[in-house]
Amino acid sequence: MNMEESANTDRTGVAVVGCGYWGVNYLRLLRELPSVGSVFAFDQRPERLAEVGKRFPHVTTTESFEEILDSSAVDAAIVCTPATQHYGVATQLLDAGKHLLVEKPITTDSAEAKLLIAQAASKGLTLMVGHTFLFNAGVSAVKAHVDAGNAGKIHYLYAQRTNLGPIRYDVDALWDLAPHDISIFNHLLEGEPAWVSAVGSRVLGSTRPDVGFVTIGYEGDVVAHIHVSWADPFKVRQAVVVGSEQRIVFDDMNAAAPVTIYEKGIAPGTEDIPTYGEYPLLIRDGDIISPKVTPSEPLKNQTSHFLDVVTNGAEPVSDGTVGLKVVEVMEAIDRSIELLGAPVPVGDTQRAGDESGAPIGVPAVESEG
Ligand SMILES: NC(=O)c1ccc[n+]([C@@H]2O[C@H](COP(=O)([O-])OP(=O)(O)OC[C@H]3O[C@@H](n4cnc5c(N)ncnc54)[C@H](O)[C@@H]3O)[C@@H](O)[C@H]2O)c1
Repeated sequence: MNMEESANTDRTGVAVVGCGYWGVNYLRLLRELPSVGSVFAFDQRPERLAEVGKRFPHVTTTESFEEILDSSAVDAAIVCTPATQHYGVATQLLDAGKHLLVEKPITTDSAEAKLLIAQAASKGLTLMVGHTFLFNAGVSAVKAHVDAGNAGKIHYLYAQRTNLGPIRYDVDALWDLAPHDISIFNHLLEGEPAWVSAVGSRVLGSTRPDVGFVTIGYEGDVVAHIHVSWADPFKVRQAVVVGSEQRIVFDDMNAAAPVTIYEKGIAPGTEDIPTYGEYPLLIRDGDIISPKVTPSEPLKNQTSHFLDVVTNGAEPVSDGTVGLKVVEVMEAIDRSIELLGAPVPVGDTQRAGDESGAPIGVPAVESEG
């Protein structure tokens, strides 16, 4: 059957471009979404397409990218190629009039992300980025607590995303893993960082960092830290929010209890400060709570939302600009690693500075002497 014959005109025809480790997850779950009609698959490796055809009989495979571009049966596409290929593939699909969900990071260059955003806007097409954690029920539960003010004033956040591999060959461990945590932090704080300071290490003997430590500064003196690694014997997927009233832990490895809230806090007292060293602090103890989080598959939530945006015009949770903000942080991380951890302003946050010329929000680096 050719692609036009397999079209189901009532529902949305979706193509998955890039059907490796991650792309096949989309092929599996697209069949479960009622608004999806025909499903198509393209991968530049014919042997991978042959496997896909055997494993997913509901999918129409093609060895021709042009066929995906030209087919009126394809309304929307999901770009799941390696990150360095996202821009080249995505711009052709937008040019051909397809609505797009591009896996994270949207591109590996902020200028390219801006081009995609402008291209989609000029054609009236959806451009979404696959920041899966914005569709994770655990992260949504954390955000609900933060938004309700239960955590109090947010003091700082930190995340650890470590494991032994899996190693990628087009991007380093920071570009592979940190976009998840940056997207979570930007989402929770509803803002974007002013500066980053990062160091990386090549412990596996590769040419790119496989371990990274990143400090991020947000408005209002909120700092965040991210540790990523492909070389850690422990698989950890954790993000922690420390507020004046609560400490909230999101543990993606704990399916039964992904969120734990510690109702402990520490806050400056209101009495007069007697002397240095006797600064009055109020320490409050409290309950430890694991709120019920109804399990759902984040990737399915994300794909279902994409279909809702395409068919019903819903406002995308993770649009191209959300993706761009993450890429701008990644570019600042690259620059800071080159400068051995010196603070670097993020994207357009570089504004008129103080007398020393330092951008607002970027910690000053003391000169010697
Ligand atoms: N959101 C998440 O949690 C998550 C998890 C894993 C991967 N990802 C993202 O998914 C993307 C793919 O990752 P992966 O692990 O599946 O990689 P992969 O290397 O396993 O698969 C990529 C596939 O794309 C194909 N390909 C490469 N260039 C192509 C092109 N120009 N046109 C068509 N096909 C092409 C390759 O043949 C391969 O089959 C990456 O952007 C990655 O960051 C996201």
